[in-house]
Amino acid sequence: MNDTFLRACRGEKTDYTPIWMMRQAGRYLPEYQKVRGNVTFLELCKSPELCVEVTLQPIDLLNMDAAILFSDILILMEAMGAPLDFHEGKGPVFATTVRDQASLDKLIIPDPDEATGFVMETIKLLKKELKVPLIGFAGAPFTCATYLIEGGSSKVFWETKKLMFTQPELFHGLMEKITEATILYLQAQARAGAQALQLFDSWAGILAPCDYEEFAYPYVRKILASLKQYDVPLIYFANNGATLLEYSAESGADVVGLDWRINIKDAIARVGNKAVQGNIDPFALLLPEDKLKNRIQRLLDDAKDARGHIFNLGHGIHQFTPPAQAKLAVDLVHELSSK
Ligand code: CP3
Repeated sequence: MNDTFLRACRGEKTDYTPIWMMRQAGRYLPEYQKVRGNVTFLELCKSPELCVEVTLQPIDLLNMDAAILFSDILILMEAMGAPLDFHEGKGPVFATTVRDQASLDKLIIPDPDEATGFVMETIKLLKKELKVPLIGFAGAPFTCATYLIEGGSSKVFWETKKLMFTQPELFHGLMEKITEATILYLQAQARAGAQALQLFDSWAGILAPCDYEEFAYPYVRKILASLKQYDVPLIYFANNGATLLEYSAESGADVVGLDWRINIKDAIARVGNKAVQGNIDPFALLLPEDKLKNRIQRLLDDAKDARGHIFNLGHGIHQFTPPAQAKLAVDLVHELSSK
């Protein structure tokens, strides 16, 4: 097994800098499109054999050093009782919203092996195939809450912040429920064989630090604390989170995810003795080869004092990225970091 990724997470010496890319299994790959052409996104998420196939695609095609379970952060919200659909071009849409006590009471805390058995089955099947470590994941409670409250994606998050500021007890009640469900869900993933776990906090960056500290952070800490017993590296990624780095460093995560809006050297100085993951701008994959090479070299140099560095994009790979450019980046990271 190639354990370079796990070693970097633990701050151990590695022969080269491992790389994987957030959203590495997805629409930019024609091989994914082909599988997806026959099923809806949700059907895909619930078919373990197909999930295994698309999880493996970027490993085989692009030589990534870690695999991430193919699923979605909102699968758990659906299992909690929120009917979910994905609309072409519009993203996730929930049939109902959670904005009052009655709708909160309707949400359940599911048994992960029953309600999301297909996820655990995917993990077990993947473990038989993989020669690189498998990352399991969930959405962080605040990010999941925004989708339930808004009923889907949002740009302004009016309903989320309205609920937070005008009905804080209800808001905390929702966060507690998502937290409990997420703990059980990630523990089940660890038991099924996930070798690292990542919490995606895609929308943490819309909060003022004081509101993050009050409404989001305690739940992140609670989840990460509940996973310590499994002895798998824990990764916390707060997107747009340069103002929240000190929190991320103290969250209980072994690895702090970084978007591209901060220089990795500055971030390392602030997170201290933690491994970091990131942080090239996903659109920088469009650079011509010589410029991409310079950019990667600079990032590797800037990250040399980190306790551990896992090369990654600062957010998910964009769906129109040419796969050849992603492959070029992987090869360059391997080549330049093994010198
Ligand atoms: O990283 C991987 O390769 C594993 C799979 C994965 C998906 N979603 C597959 C997906 C992971 C880790 C996610 C996480 C996720 N999902 C996040 C957090 C990361 C981030 O991007 O900030 C969020 C916020 C979601 C919610 C979600 N899922 C949205 C908003 C959308 C629609 C927007 C979009 O990119 O299409 C999805 C759909 C989705 N999740 C797709 C994939 C491959 C595209 C579905 C398709 O095939 O049409």
